[in-house]
Amino acid sequence: MHDRVSGRPSTHAALAFYDDQQPPAGDFLADVLDGFSRTPKQLTPVYFYDAKGSAIFDEITALPEYYVTRTELGILDQIGSELAALAGPGAVVIEPGSGSSVKIRKLLDALSVPAAYVGLDISGEHLESACQEIAADYPNLQVGAICADFTEGLDLKHLTLESGRRIIFFPGSTIGNFEPEGARALLSGFRKAMRPGDAVLIGADRVKDADRLVAAYDDKAGVTARFNLNLIDRINDELGGTIDASALRHKAIWNAEKARIEMHLIAIRDLHFTVSGHEFQLREGESIHTENSHKFTPESFTSLAKSVGFDVLQTWSDPADLFTLHWLEPAAKA
Ligand SMILES: C[S@@+](CC[C@H](N)C(=O)[O-])C[C@H]1O[C@@H](n2cnc3c(N)ncnc32)[C@H](O)[C@@H]1O
Repeated sequence: MHDRVSGRPSTHAALAFYDDQQPPAGDFLADVLDGFSRTPKQLTPVYFYDAKGSAIFDEITALPEYYVTRTELGILDQIGSELAALAGPGAVVIEPGSGSSVKIRKLLDALSVPAAYVGLDISGEHLESACQEIAADYPNLQVGAICADFTEGLDLKHLTLESGRRIIFFPGSTIGNFEPEGARALLSGFRKAMRPGDAVLIGADRVKDADRLVAAYDDKAGVTARFNLNLIDRINDELGGTIDASALRHKAIWNAEKARIEMHLIAIRDLHFTVSGHEFQLREGESIHTENSHKFTPESFTSLAKSVGFDVLQTWSDPADLFTLHWLEPAAKA
């Protein structure tokens, strides 16, 4: 048996297709060297999600302080019949950044006879096993997987997909990891892959009390700290780094001006280290900025969506106004 897209021998028997668009893994070193050469030093969050990072992220979603996943799942439970009505029967659901593909089950269960599900993630191993689990649990659904970088747009042209309405499912407030310019570029990329009648169902975390936000990203059990420090382990293991991780402390900061939580690794003493032979210094108190998580109001999110040609047809929130889900459709041309 052969893989329907690549033609190589398939190890993906349970999937309708596995499309490896070969995201350039080799950029890890270039991105780390570039980020460590900046002031302040920074790392890009895309590298959080190796197999270990993905497993730690799954732990984060169950933490008492991390309201995001629980709240979004609760909203999905409440709005199932509305989603079924908006999507109609025979929908094709595409999930960029699908990860463990947990939330998708709520959506698939809510929809009226969905035709297909396509998980898309940069982390190939995790993607394949998660999509195979969906295929096993939903035998009437066509399930495929695309290993790709969603910031490069969604390339669906050559896939043998069902012809139903396409719903791009982008939960978890992953949109918040992008600076405003990057968020616009990402949504524009989705917009370009859409046909009239298609839609985006997207999660956005809300601006709220700073203490609650900081606690969600700096939990008592130290799981988010492990997640953050896993980036340093990856650099040491995969790029021959010599960074003493015990000299770095995880810190979450609410930046009110930019409406975002920032994650940092702060040096508790002066550090000198190398990465693939390149030398770097960190002074005591200096930070490596590892992630941004922008927060939205319904108004600020609507303005972002409109700026790239979407209409916001529906917005749902939880009773405590912690999180929102939005249903976007390409705006009718004037
Ligand atoms: C925070 S998890 C979200 C998982 C799931 N959608 C949820 O809401 O629970 C983010 C996922 O996006 C993936 N990811 C991050 N950046 C990506 C990119 N540029 N292209 C494709 N996948 C990406 C990661 O590998 C990870 O599995």
